[in-house]
Amino acid sequence: MILRSDYRASDFLLDRIELHVSVEALTTVEAWLHLRRRPGADPAASLVLDGRGIELLSIELDGTPIAPSGYRIEPEQLVVPAVPDAFVLRTLTRNDPEKNTVLEGWYRSGPMLCTQCEAQGFSRITYALDRPDVLSRFRVRLEAETARYPVLLANGNCVESGDAGPGRHYAVWEDPHPKPCYLFAMVAGDLACVEGRHRTPSGRDVALRFYVDRGNENRVAHAMESLRKAMQWDESVYGLEYDLDIYMVVAARDFNMGAMENKGLNLFNARFVLASPQTATDVDYDGVESVIAHEYFHNWTGNRVTCRDWFQLSLKEGLTVYRDQCFSADLGSRDVTRIEHVRTLRALQFPEDAGPTAHPVRPDAYAEVNNLYTATVYEKGAEILRMLASVIGEETFVAGIGHYLKQHDGTAATVEDLLASLEAVSGQKLDGFRRWYSQSGTPSVEITDEYDAAEGRYTLRLRQHTAPTHDQAQKTVLPIPLRFSLRDDDGQLLQLSPQPPLMPRADLILLEAAEAELRFDNIESRPTPAFLHGFSAPVKLQYAYTPDALSALVLNEEDGFLRWEASQRLMFDALFETMNGEPGEHSRMLLHTLQVLAANPPADKALLAELLRLPAESELAAQIEPLDPHAVTRARDGLRHAIAQALTGPLSVWAAWMPTDLSPENRARRSLSNLALWYLGHLNSARIRKLALERAHSPNMSLAIGGLAALRDSDSAEREEAMDAFHLRFRDEPLVLDKWFAMEAASARPAGLERVTALLTHPDFKPNPNRTRAVLGTFMRENLRSFHAPDGGGYRLLATELAKIDAGNPQLAARLVEGLLGWRRLVPALGEHMRAALEQLAQAGPSRDVAEKIGKALE
Ligand code: PHE
Ligand code: ZN
Repeated sequence: MILRSDYRASDFLLDRIELHVSVEALTTVEAWLHLRRRPGADPAASLVLDGRGIELLSIELDGTPIAPSGYRIEPEQLVVPAVPDAFVLRTLTRNDPEKNTVLEGWYRSGPMLCTQCEAQGFSRITYALDRPDVLSRFRVRLEAETARYPVLLANGNCVESGDAGPGRHYAVWEDPHPKPCYLFAMVAGDLACVEGRHRTPSGRDVALRFYVDRGNENRVAHAMESLRKAMQWDESVYGLEYDLDIYMVVAARDFNMGAMENKGLNLFNARFVLASPQTATDVDYDGVESVIAHEYFHNWTGNRVTCRDWFQLSLKEGLTVYRDQCFSADLGSRDVTRIEHVRTLRALQFPEDAGPTAHPVRPDAYAEVNNLYTATVYEKGAEILRMLASVIGEETFVAGIGHYLKQHDGTAATVEDLLASLEAVSGQKLDGFRRWYSQSGTPSVEITDEYDAAEGRYTLRLRQHTAPTHDQAQKTVLPIPLRFSLRDDDGQLLQLSPQPPLMPRADLILLEAAEAELRFDNIESRPTPAFLHGFSAPVKLQYAYTPDALSALVLNEEDGFLRWEASQRLMFDALFETMNGEPGEHSRMLLHTLQVLAANPPADKALLAELLRLPAESELAAQIEPLDPHAVTRARDGLRHAIAQALTGPLSVWAAWMPTDLSPENRARRSLSNLALWYLGHLNSARIRKLALERAHSPNMSLAIGGLAALRDSDSAEREEAMDAFHLRFRDEPLVLDKWFAMEAASARPAGLERVTALLTHPDFKPNPNRTRAVLGTFMRENLRSFHAPDGGGYRLLATELAKIDAGNPQLAARLVEGLLGWRRLVPALGEHMRAALEQLAQAGPSRDVAEKIGKALE
């Protein structure tokens, strides 16, 4: 276990690194490390370098070979006991990128070799101080066969290039910005380049270069445009400009994560770069835009100011997620963007915070560093900053970030440094928010109210509570900003006066104690309250809204998030009702509300679609406990059917829309139209199946996927035809074929397990992270029926596959094993099967990545 409390500064500093990398059958790396003892460090301390999976060929200190007795090679380290205070260490090592299946370090992806160094992949390339608080200037000479690897890239600027003997060439790259080695990157490949430009306000002309597989040049325009928008947004909102002359993005077929912010040379999972209307859905377009922005925003929040240690990961990730969320909200529909982010938070982070791997946003311990890249660190981390911004004001928040970046530019900082800057600029004490970083678990806020007609007094009573979590038994109180409003009988907002400190603003309660009471006088009739506008805090709100109040919120509320939240509650209530018996009052209220909504739809069609959308199976599974997956899917199907029947008229009108252009208005219409068709797809209608089949053939990918989704669960000739045609049409398009695999893996048709097994042996199943996630990730999250097969077959299937995946790519396996960790939340019969599958996997000798998670789940 690595503990946060064990942090010690490095004994050595590494001011400069020079690398000569030569790609042959193997790759040799000659490295010159300009090392110096840190002032104040132990003068007798040995030099300890990190290195994994590399072969040391020679080693010299200041030009003299070190005798074998002068150093030690350990499994993950190179130790040189007696070294001077300042010296140059030269090592020559060798590694094999072709055999690298972990996709960390230096590995092959299609026509290129590329690096992935975060968190500790650099030490798979050469011996180094592989920790984020050691910053170095890098110079890299990369040499390879010219025909096979015409493109040679690394961070910074290309300062030299040319021939290197027969059939070979080289390029020298120099990065003027000191950086930790996790931000190092290099690429050698046969790639096409699409170039654009951006001019910063101060007049720097930046070349924007996208490197993609040949043939994909015409799928870069959206990413390019997104990058320009992100640059402009950071310039205008945060006053931050790009700081190099070249910004490069390389799209890789095989990538464990979404993308990586290496200085000046981002590496991307191709699915977050490539987009064309024929191959990418509207959702994919949004994904590209936000990931491109996220990695770009890291240039300041992450690269210029980096993290002192990996426990501080949220310092860069939470902050950068918050920034990319604000960017997306500014560019698109604010309400719909927020709804999507809350959906993700609830589907991924809330269950994590309530399960065996619960940990604070700033964790205290880990066994495997890659297991720190969690929804808690990313999404909950962003929520903390959102709360801070709402409490100190958004402008003050932006100024505080500016202060933090100035103070810590070119260094490795901590969460504490960020909070100190926000305190300095706002003049407010933020101690309570420090606790948000150290306490795990999702707080509940319980609100009750009372109206005293005789006194004209309305009282709110608030109580917060955080249940013990797997990692922490004791919980303390947290500051919880609850935006709220009160309306009178006519639906008019009551004008309230602040009552600091509990109610610092007319629209905000800041609950800092375990309990609080807030009184409003001169209130003429019982008001109708609404809480948590825009989801102002990542909490579970308990307030007994009446069905009428929920209906009114869906129909009349201005805050789009609240409208959605109310419709979600009506849907959950209706689901619970049918799970426990027959459709009754709640179901009637839901259907009635949706009918009225359909008759008076909001102008924003994308919002309308969200208000009408049933929670996905994954969202239900995350929020219902104890979970009986089969009861949940039955109830959800029943509700899908009931809504399709109750709203057939308007759904049929919307379902007929098939706009193909990418304007925001038409994207919104597609979202609504696909949803309408999906509902109608549950009615056994040949006319609808025909419409869906026709749509599945659309040249617009959003519509095509909408057509398939409507047919997905039906056992019909149309479904067969649509799926076969889609498969044939996109056989040679890996990113689109992933969609076909995912669609099959999610299908609720009978014999799901056999189908998933067949997918895994399908001739087109070429396993890489995207394809594996498309099948197994979709299967475990969006196919409750088959994954939770009553005999436990789904769990065993996943466990068996994971054991194989884990042997080659532990990071990927460790992500997917999350599907098996929540056995305690299941009804006992299933829970036992899931636990048994976990034990099966535990016995298979799992990687540290997987073992750490299983260990917690079985504790
Ligand atoms: N730092 C990357 C991001 O959030 C994520 C990542 C982590 C990618 C580790 C690769 C490896 O943008
Ligand atoms: Zn990030």
